[in-house]
Amino acid sequence: MGKSIVIFFSHAGDNYAVGNIKVGNTKIVADYITEITGADQFEIVTHKYDGMAYAPLCDLAKEEQQQGELPPFEGEPENLDQYDTVFIGGPVWWGTYPQVMFTFFSKYDLNGKTIIPFTTHEGSGLGRCVSDVKKAYPEAKVKGEFSIYGHEVRSGREKVEKWLKSIVK
Ligand SMILES: Cc1cc2nc3c(=O)[nH]c(=O)nc-3n(C[C@H](O)[C@H](O)[C@H](O)COP(=O)(O)O)c2cc1C
Repeated sequence: MGKSIVIFFSHAGDNYAVGNIKVGNTKIVADYITEITGADQFEIVTHKYDGMAYAPLCDLAKEEQQQGELPPFEGEPENLDQYDTVFIGGPVWWGTYPQVMFTFFSKYDLNGKTIIPFTTHEGSGLGRCVSDVKKAYPEAKVKGEFSIYGHEVRSGREKVEKWLKSIVK
């Protein structure tokens, strides 16, 4: 795999199926990947959705997607040139990754790298995430994708381990 990094967004707080959670579902998966593979990590952080209840967040996320908004995030990853493999993960929001992840895609060029997309979701699986990553990075090798139900992640470490074993050579 070469040197790798896990880049992800995850929303803690009120959510579907899991109630009000302190640590987001995708963060739990990102942490499993980091622990198991020794990859570095960059979390895409925004405080735009802090404290929002599930229903208004759904409305806002839909609006952002329809308008193609690119909400800003905090911080910057360090020297992405050093990585061969990039795990990209997030929740599925209205069928694909949250718009703030597209902000990241528009700022950082990952063409030429291996990209491994993953999602947590409540029924959509990978949704349009893989094709959207391919659109953002047409010259990347996008493969090995994985999805898991958000309500399964807390007891889902073994599933993540099994997936990683199947793709990490
Ligand atoms: C705004 C919003 C939109 C969502 N849209 C979908 C969807 O289209 N398909 C789906 O399967 N799950 C959807 N979900 C559920 C999340 O994908 C799921 O709960 C995920 O595990 C959340 O991950 P997180 O805790 O890392 O943010 C949505 C959740 C939110 C808050």
